Amino acid sequence: MDTNRREFLKGTAWMGAAAIAAGCISAKNAPCCGAGGSMFGFAAKPLKKIRVGCVGIGSRGSGAVHRLASIPGVEVVALCDIEQRRVDIQQKWLKENKKPAAKEFVGADAYRRLCDWDGADCIYNTTPWELHVPVALCAMRGGKHVFIEVPSAFTVDECWELVETSESLKLNCMQLENCCYGEAEMLALNLCRLGLLGDLVHAEGAYIHDLRDHNYGDLGKDPHAYWNHWRLRWNTKHKGNQYVTHGLIPLMEYMGINRGDRFDYLVSLESDQFNFEAYGKANYPAGDWHHEHKVQMGDMNTTLVKTVKGRSIMIQHDVSSPRPYSRINRITGTKGTLAGGAFLYGDKAITSEWPVRFGWEEKSGAGVHAYFPEAKQKELRKQYMHPYWKQAGEIAMKVGGHGGMDFLMDLRWAYCLQNGIPLDTNVYDLAASCCIGELSERSVRNRSSSVDFPDFTKGAWKTQPPLGIETVDLSKMGLGVGDVKKDKAALNV
Ligand SMILES: NC(=O)c1ccc[n+]([C@@H]2O[C@H](COP(=O)([O-])OP(=O)(O)OC[C@H]3O[C@@H](n4cnc5c(N)ncnc54)[C@H](O)[C@@H]3O)[C@@H](O)[C@H]2O)c1
Repeated sequence: MDTNRREFLKGTAWMGAAAIAAGCISAKNAPCCGAGGSMFGFAAKPLKKIRVGCVGIGSRGSGAVHRLASIPGVEVVALCDIEQRRVDIQQKWLKENKKPAAKEFVGADAYRRLCDWDGADCIYNTTPWELHVPVALCAMRGGKHVFIEVPSAFTVDECWELVETSESLKLNCMQLENCCYGEAEMLALNLCRLGLLGDLVHAEGAYIHDLRDHNYGDLGKDPHAYWNHWRLRWNTKHKGNQYVTHGLIPLMEYMGINRGDRFDYLVSLESDQFNFEAYGKANYPAGDWHHEHKVQMGDMNTTLVKTVKGRSIMIQHDVSSPRPYSRINRITGTKGTLAGGAFLYGDKAITSEWPVRFGWEEKSGAGVHAYFPEAKQKELRKQYMHPYWKQAGEIAMKVGGHGGMDFLMDLRWAYCLQNGIPLDTNVYDLAASCCIGELSERSVRNRSSSVDFPDFTKGAWKTQPPLGIETVDLSKMGLGVGDVKKDKAALNV
């Protein structure tokens, strides 16, 4: 076992064994000889037709079924949920939209049968958090690529297990971070790659979103309720930043984390919780469980990360305070800075961080004392719009789903799989971001002491080029604005 890993497993024993019990491993697809080797640059054999099995078709999963079924060459071949009624709703949607019927897998363990079934190439995992890793391992052990909602894992041990399984079976294990495909985030990536912000020094991101109604809501009564209150149950047990990816992954792409730099250590500090339990008490009758629930997660968590190349990142998490949505999305370099991002619906932006604003030194040494004037920003936003947004943004906005970024994410990985191209993000990006769940919790519980990151790439980060400016070929895919329609199930918050 790699020393780095052994040290971490020792260090995580306090958390108890990781929740990895994916017992489904079909003999025909089992790892034969531990092929190993890095997943950087990995491209699977092209799949002209991609057959996807969707697991966990609740509020996020429903939109996913519709998006995937709208991409040429992608077929939703299986629907899997613990509840039959969720499968029925999606089966009906497929029929109404003249798509082939999907095979049904229903029950708490039904995903295991799906993972062993020969009829799918990929598993799209939109289950509650505790199922992300078991379903993903099961999928890969059944010979399938796996796409996992965020955060895909929560402990260092889980991250290693996903890395090692992806490496040994040579299957993609990709985290579905849609925010990398937001217009502002892609603009920022483009500005960074063009060098307009100079050498990158510091970044800030966040997930600030008042989700108390989602957490406490009851299924059947409240429109945003989670299945079996899975998120509130998680928050009763954990501190730290347990939902780091929306704010962080775009920053990782700008800064080339795992591609020229990597996370070194973090410190994490958290307020106590003043809002969660008070919400339960204020909105539900005394004596029922909503009233009594004890929550460990503090309201505001602030985590600071230092990279081995000396750069810094601040990342925040707050899902219980009465304040507007924000991912911050700030990137600062030696020449300039950009901040902001949003889900855009025409002129309406769902965030406190819009418009995106930026400025850079037009004369060396002049500094940036204000963002560019509004009219100039508008013009530059158009000029420097990421080529992928220029190409497919209109189609994506028509479908909807967080202002279009959900569709762009799925369209891009589908294009890569169909054409034998490496995906934009791999299992190392998943691991470097997701291990912050455990690392930040350890720091918070230990008076904000610093905690080291493992190197999941085993040194390969030193020679990897940063993510380039990638697009798709829409004519090759046979996709135009007229081929898609607005999806009512698309999530916008
Ligand atoms: N990327 C984003 O913008 C975004 C937005 C919302 C949610 N999410 C993520 O999506 C995931 C799902 O969130 P949600 O809001 O849809 O939750 P949800 O509670 O609405 O849906 C969860 C679904 O999983 C099903 N399920 C439960 N146990 C199962 C089992 N054993 N086997 C199969 N299905 C099972 C439930 O019946 C339900 O249909 C979470 O990981 C969340 O973090 C991401």
